[in-house]
Amino acid sequence: MSATSSHRPRLIPGHGHAGIEQAVNAFGLLRDYFEGAIIVDAHSRITWIDQRYRELLKLAADFDPVGLPVEEVIPHSLMRRVVETGKPTLLDIMRFDDRQFVVCRIPLKDEAGKVEGAIGFVFYDNVDYLEPILEKFENLQKQLTRAQAALTRERQAKYSLSSFVGLSDAVKELKSQVRRFALREGAALIQGETGTGKELLAHAIHRQSDRADGPFIAINVAAVPEQLLEAEFFGVAPGAYTGADRKPRQGKFELAHGGTLFLDEIGDMPPAIQAKFLRVLQEGEVEALGSNTIKKVDVRIIAATSQDLEAKVADKSFRADLYYRIAVLTVRIPPLRDRREDIALLCETLLEQTMRTPGQRGWVLLPEAIRLLESHDWPGNVRELRNVLERAAALAPSEVLDAAAIRRAMPQAAPRPTPTAAATSGGDLATRLAEAERDAILAALDASNGEKLAAARRLGVSRSQFYEKLRRHNITS
Ligand SMILES: Nc1ncnc2c1ncn2[C@@H]1O[C@H](COP(=O)(O)OP(=O)(O)OP(=O)(O)O)[C@@H](O)[C@H]1O
Ligand SMILES: [Mg+2]
Repeated sequence: MSATSSHRPRLIPGHGHAGIEQAVNAFGLLRDYFEGAIIVDAHSRITWIDQRYRELLKLAADFDPVGLPVEEVIPHSLMRRVVETGKPTLLDIMRFDDRQFVVCRIPLKDEAGKVEGAIGFVFYDNVDYLEPILEKFENLQKQLTRAQAALTRERQAKYSLSSFVGLSDAVKELKSQVRRFALREGAALIQGETGTGKELLAHAIHRQSDRADGPFIAINVAAVPEQLLEAEFFGVAPGAYTGADRKPRQGKFELAHGGTLFLDEIGDMPPAIQAKFLRVLQEGEVEALGSNTIKKVDVRIIAATSQDLEAKVADKSFRADLYYRIAVLTVRIPPLRDRREDIALLCETLLEQTMRTPGQRGWVLLPEAIRLLESHDWPGNVRELRNVLERAAALAPSEVLDAAAIRRAMPQAAPRPTPTAAATSGGDLATRLAEAERDAILAALDASNGEKLAAARRLGVSRSQFYEKLRRHNITS
């Protein structure tokens, strides 16, 4: 009789330890309840496997797995982990072909508690009482697949060039420039005032390029505190830090491999990071924090800035060599006040995107309202225009937006909380301070036409502190 078809486990000579023998003796009792079993020794080598498990694994009749490391026979086996940790996995699920099985693994110990092997049982999925668990597992699996798909979508560019609305000569020229250089590989720099659509254009350039199927990874340089930027860009190797809060993490460079890395507010990159960044661009390799391995990366850089980067180069707060690397191709988005003929078309698109109540057909913007909008200077550009339209739509008594509705929604007419209001309101000190801070931030934003960096400067706080406060107070621009 062959060893593997015998009902009683055969142990490797010299491995007849007490724990394994006990397990073997318990076998007679358990046999009817499982559909396959395996035993490994302290080195996770197979010492015994029953016939039903052999069939499940489709092992050839003349193949003797005894003595082999368990993974050579069951590639995803977790028996080794049980042996190494001495902890059982009482309930786990394993897939063989298209079916899933419940498995249970128990360490085998000698009297002194030393692990001398492990035993694993396989149960089929037709065990009634396990059905709810298996169903749950299936559902989790599906959710995971969906989440992964969503993440992939998230990492793709959202907008194409056609989402950039405008028919003015300036926009036509801009779009043809983008089409021309989207196919080239060089880094691109997008300049433009706040709210002119720099981010939208960056997505569009990516979508237009050969890398469209690759990831689009964005990072707002101004919003990440300086001490975290390096990890954010280059990643953190496992074990680089002690302490549970710093887990290994892929850097944005690595995530963007094969695609585009979009650097928003690049003018805010601190000098130390500029130097490291330049090196990565020159060498095409990144080294994660705390690692000593280097990874090749193939990434196209698109950067955006609302600051005058040339001036920053001139006053040496931005490295000239980095500037020339990034400004291979440059586009400048003209401010809205220089292309007023786009305003009507933009309004149509932006209102289209504005929330409607159920059953509502859409907003009607009267010609007088359009004329009023066209006469405004829009320091906050398209974003400001969008905000005004959204506010007007929210306040309007009907679907028709006339000049009065627009006037009410214009920034200077918007009721604005004043510091005195906060100071006289009730609440404890912390609440009042928070209210005062929120008021100050809103007022500073208002006074600098929504330009966050100018507002931060006005308040005398750093860019990252300012972004942190915006997040805390839930203020979106
Ligand atoms: N040409 C355009 N067509 C349609 N929508 C636009 C256009 N330009 C900007 N927008 C919209 O205006 C808003 C601001 O655009 P975006 O965030 O791209 O601007 P930005 O230049 O990156 O601003 P900031 O400098 O403040 O970061 C977004 O909602 C965007 O969809
Ligand atoms: Mg932006």
